[in-house]
Amino acid sequence: MTGPDKAVPDSSARDIDELIGRMTLDEKAALTAGVDAWHTFAIERLGIPPVRLTDGPNGARGATGPDYLSVTPSVCIPSASALGATWDPDVVSAASAAVARQARDKSARVLLAPTVNLHRHPLWGRNFECFSEDPFLSGKLAVAFISGVQAQGVIATVKHLVCNETEFERRTSSSEVDERTLRELYLLPFEMAVREGDVLALMTSYNRVNGRYVPDNERFLSEILRGEWGFRGLVMTDWSAGVTTIEAARGGLDLEMPGPARAFGPALARAVREGEVDEAHLDDKVRRLLRTFDEIGALADPVDKSEAPLDRPEDRAAARRAASEAIVLLTNDGVLPLSGLAKVAVIGPNAELPAVMGGGSARVKPHYSVSPLEALRQRLGFGTEVVFEAGCALATSAAEAGATASAGAGASEHAIARAVEAARQADVAIVVVGTNDYWESEGVDRETMDLPGAQSELVERVIAANPRSVVVVNSGAPVSLPFADDAAALVQCWFGGQELGNALADVLVGDADPAGRLPVTLPERIEHTPAFGNFPGESGQVRYGEGLLMGYRWYEARHLPVRFPFGHGLSYTSFQIKAVRTSASRLVRDGVLSVDVDVVNTGKRPGSEVVQLYVAPPGGGTAPPGGRLRPAKQLKGFAKVRLGPGEATTVRLELSARSFAYYDVEDAAWPVLLSRLGGPHHDPETGALHRSKAGWYVDPGTYQLHVGRSSADIAHIVEVDVEGGPEPLPATERPG
Ligand code: BGC
Repeated sequence: MTGPDKAVPDSSARDIDELIGRMTLDEKAALTAGVDAWHTFAIERLGIPPVRLTDGPNGARGATGPDYLSVTPSVCIPSASALGATWDPDVVSAASAAVARQARDKSARVLLAPTVNLHRHPLWGRNFECFSEDPFLSGKLAVAFISGVQAQGVIATVKHLVCNETEFERRTSSSEVDERTLRELYLLPFEMAVREGDVLALMTSYNRVNGRYVPDNERFLSEILRGEWGFRGLVMTDWSAGVTTIEAARGGLDLEMPGPARAFGPALARAVREGEVDEAHLDDKVRRLLRTFDEIGALADPVDKSEAPLDRPEDRAAARRAASEAIVLLTNDGVLPLSGLAKVAVIGPNAELPAVMGGGSARVKPHYSVSPLEALRQRLGFGTEVVFEAGCALATSAAEAGATASAGAGASEHAIARAVEAARQADVAIVVVGTNDYWESEGVDRETMDLPGAQSELVERVIAANPRSVVVVNSGAPVSLPFADDAAALVQCWFGGQELGNALADVLVGDADPAGRLPVTLPERIEHTPAFGNFPGESGQVRYGEGLLMGYRWYEARHLPVRFPFGHGLSYTSFQIKAVRTSASRLVRDGVLSVDVDVVNTGKRPGSEVVQLYVAPPGGGTAPPGGRLRPAKQLKGFAKVRLGPGEATTVRLELSARSFAYYDVEDAAWPVLLSRLGGPHHDPETGALHRSKAGWYVDPGTYQLHVGRSSADIAHIVEVDVEGGPEPLPATERPG
């Protein structure tokens, strides 16, 4: 039996090699595939139990029930884009620990989370499940998530390796991406999860990368993951992904999921018998699987058939804290925090039926969930009259969406008119609009960034009727905000999990400071976004044509306006970043540079600020002849501070050579080309443009550190000389 609250893994420390020596070939092969959707193969005669796996990133769904909702309940923490908005590793690890406790309640020792793909395009259906557009923020929060999970004796599974950023034809499409972009953006959170987070499992993606399926790809799974990064855990497929027996067996895949086996299991035993796969490859897989399971105590932990989730106060508290820390105040003319109101009109479909999570495999059945309407009624109840009008409906299924579309625009007129009247008669209108798990879901991309249904019209007409309108956007990814300048206040509350309503009410009435900051740029128009024109791709290819210029890197390089910049978010108090000091004026190659930032709460309320540190390369990132294109600046450090009125503190951020490095590929053809032209084999002038070794390089020079409150609100710029050099950084240099 599992002890649900047991924090320390109880490793049985089995002699794995001795166990493998006693197995038949068929038994070994059977261990490399699931037996059903959620269990690995058991070998009773050797005392090897099945190990249970469970989704996912915002709760532990468990292994029962034919569909996502008829399962036993779980705590439902905010979805990952909300966790991204907390910018707080401690909040994230507390929330993920709650999920892991619930996984253990359900006898599961492997959690299929976190998802660390990037918000490349606003319309991707699974953005809500991912932290950010920025790989460094994603990586740091993934490391926190993993530590929260693994401290509970549950294996975390970082997913989906790699470039899994569209749902359209996701099982076959090929993400076409250059090596430097792969390394600097899309692989970075995985690298951090492995090298800083010591994650114990990894899931490959459905899609192909540059034409090849990842589970078959030795370069990803053996050379990079295990060779360069030192990954010691197990690699599994995504559910029913495309895999071939021989290539995947040689390439480094350990576990095919779900069962019954197709490419591994009996097919792998056959391939070994026929001499197509070396038995040593199979032994390696079994060794990695059993060692990893044993390390967290799963081999001494028979699966308990009953699932007995507990609704623990500490799990509720972790979910509420994360939901509150994620709420981003985008604009505020002073209407918030609410106070002294006789009558409040709560409006909008999501006020009553909020989206607490997105759709697909991340879905869980929450123990309970609190709507904004319920929470606001409770909090504003005494002395404040609260009226509610949905104003319009938000479809929760394809059938409903079809019916609304065919009913036409006129159908919502009556409901909108009632909402407008309610707003007119109230002191303040709070309009909660957004999407839900039908509009934002695994398996389907959105068609437009516009709010579904008549919601935009509803918001605009409510604002016209009552200028004191607070608009709350309940979505997991960016939506168009044509009314942004007209609302008295604008709030992004994401998919906030079961405690969304309480957390939102806390912030609206001022019991909590709006502590969230945008983990993703909110664009003005879809046509401005980096992957516009390359999403979701065509002819089976998704061209990552924007390369390194993704997210804020793109808007900055192109001088494009944005609705709200990456990192933005207001507080109810005010902060000043007073001074920035570096521990030295020069960073030597294997050194660490400390950056101390003095922050003061200059306002009258307690509140939170997120200090953000971006590194800008010499020359500001343009690509002079002989140089490399560099993004104008990139996030390389951050810290959240909480300060009372008048209080000051100093935060310390640390930078090392990797903070200034870029990835360069090997150009093996260069000497050949030169000799063909009759030139020298080595041209010192172009040597730095054509490397003989791939790796992370640092150009020597003067770099700028931009310290501020968002990518667009920089309070101080300080310069630092960086040593750099012609050789790549040693492999031991940590990514973050
Ligand atoms: C998803 C994974 C998930 C798995 C199991 C797949 O469709 O892509 O993220 O863990 O299903 O439900």
